[in-house]
Formats: sequence, C-alpha cells, structure tokens
Amino acid sequence: MIVDRQGRSFRNLRVSLTAACNYACTYCVPDGKRLVAAQDELSAEALVRAVAYLIEAAGIERLRITGGEPLVSPRLEPFLQGVRDLGLVEIGITTNGQLLARKLPILIDAGLHRLNVSLDTLDAGRFREIARGGDLRTVLDGLQQARAAGLKIKLNMVPMRGQNLDQVLPMLEYSLEQGFELRFIELMRMGHLARDASAFQQRFVGIAELLELIGRHHAYVQADAPLDATALRYEIPGRGFFGVIANESVPFCRTCSRLRLSSTGWLHGCLSSTNRHYIGDLLDKSRDEALPALQQRLLRALADKQEVAFSGGATIMKIIGG
Ligand code: 5AD
Repeated sequence: MIVDRQGRSFRNLRVSLTAACNYACTYCVPDGKRLVAAQDELSAEALVRAVAYLIEAAGIERLRITGGEPLVSPRLEPFLQGVRDLGLVEIGITTNGQLLARKLPILIDAGLHRLNVSLDTLDAGRFREIARGGDLRTVLDGLQQARAAGLKIKLNMVPMRGQNLDQVLPMLEYSLEQGFELRFIELMRMGHLARDASAFQQRFVGIAELLELIGRHHAYVQADAPLDATALRYEIPGRGFFGVIANESVPFCRTCSRLRLSSTGWLHGCLSSTNRHYIGDLLDKSRDEALPALQQRLLRALADKQEVAFSGGATIMKIIGG
C-alpha cells in the first residue's frame, strides 16, 4: 500500500466508463452541449485489468462506476462482469437514472446492491432547465423499479440558488417516503465554475443554510459516518437519514482516500489538481512488468492531493465523474 505523510492512501477507486452523457447539466457543461465519448476510450477488458492492477498496487477496496453517464456505455455489462470477481468489498454506480429501468437487469445480474442516482428536482420543467436532456418521469419510474428490485438507493442533489433551492424540502420528503438516502452536494468549483467566481457565488448554497432550512421543518440529529466518508450524516428520528457533502464548508481532503481513472486511462489523485498520470500503456503488460511502474505513478498521483481543502478544479466533472 502507498501512504503519504498525512497517512492517506488510495482505497476508493472511481472509474469513469465513458465521457459521454445524455444530459448537459448547467453545473457541468456551460454551453448546453451533450458530451460524446472520447475517441480513445479503453475497452472494458483494459479497464477491468486496470482495476485488478490497482487493487494490487494501491490496495483499492471499493469501486464506484461513474462517467459521463455510465449507463450509456456498451462497456457497462462486460466491465461489471469483469470486476465482480476481483474481491472488492463494494461496487457501486453513480447514474443520472435516465436508462435505469432499461439497464436494471444488467445491474442486478452483476450482483450490484447499491445505486446513487443524481436528481436535482422533482419539477419536470425545472428538470429540463437543469439537466437539459432526459425526462423526469423516466427517472422516477427507474427509481421505483430499482427499489422494487431491492437495491439500496441514495439520491444526489446539488442545491443551487435560483435553480432548485425550493426543491430541497420536496426532495427530502420524497426521499424519506421512498426510503432513499438523500445527499446534498455543495456546488463545487469545477470546470467553468472554477473560472467564473461570480456565477459560482451566486448559486452556491452551504451546509449552514441548508441545515437551517431543513431544521425549520424537521428535527434532526447528527448520525455516525465512517472516518473517510465524504458525507456528514443526519437522522430524522423515525423517518430516515440524509447527508450533506460539504466539500466547500467542511473540507475532507485530510482523509481523502479516492483515486480516479478516466475512460481514456488517466489516473487523477485529486479533483483539485490538473495533474494526471497515464496508465493505458501498462494494461497490456504482465502483472510483474506493470505493477512496479504503476506504483511509481500512484506515488505521484497521491502527491497531487491537497493538504486541507478543495481549491477548485479545471478538470471537468463530466470527464471524471465526481
Ligand atoms: N458541484 C457539485 N456536484 C457536482 N456534480 C457534478 N458537477 C458538480 C459540481 N460542479 C454531481 C452530480 C452527481 C455527482 C457525481 O456529482 O450531480 O450527482
């Protein structure tokens, strides 16, 4: 295992299966253009090999599949089949839910137990304004089917002033009713929001304001969360849990254990760093040849982590998937 001076190591890997997405969310892409797959995306087999090597070289325990939007990729099924027997403690997927109903059999077949679905509003019109693609009804139907199939579901919502702040309470009510754990993600300075400070400030809603808003309608208490968890968790006794990922207000860089791999074979040790380390060249090599080189690159990726707080990132979420 590779450990830095702050005692950090890589334990959670996020693999972006494709840069393509069927949405064009306002906080992700500035121009409303849908994203297409990069030319040089790795095959499912190469990505599976990358995961296997990273498990050995870095001590990865948990895998999250992201994008772009992972469910649009034809590599989803072979990738899931390939990683299911690698001995990972947990495999999760983050999706916008648009193709959930259609792809559910593939997910269940691969033994997936949990699902994170991004949903920023329950208002169909507002949904179109924020996501600029897809359809709310389809996502809600997908969620019902996934729930009926027994999957544990978390919802991700990015609260933004002037866009969906009035949706915080309806989203919480819906999540509590359905037994989903809602997680509010503070808006991050990624991509165009890293360059446009006033657009960011205008939209940003911090944890203090959020909790105050929720506290007016619900009595909540702080709940336990694992040491390297990114979310602060709260319980509304008798009703359920919600979380806040306060990357801006309560930074968690000190305990960050994340490593990201893009669909084109680049490792990112930190969302806030423009550094990246190519490993695509190692994936057709034998384990004995690949591992020492991989370890060198992992050391460099680990050194890219911020000391304390996220300070913005030119890397766009759409490519590296949160
Ligand atoms: N700030 C906060 N969250 C973001 N996401 C995408 N871009 C941003 C941003 N700039 C969220 C998506 C998804 C999760 C993986 O990251 O909504 O739920």
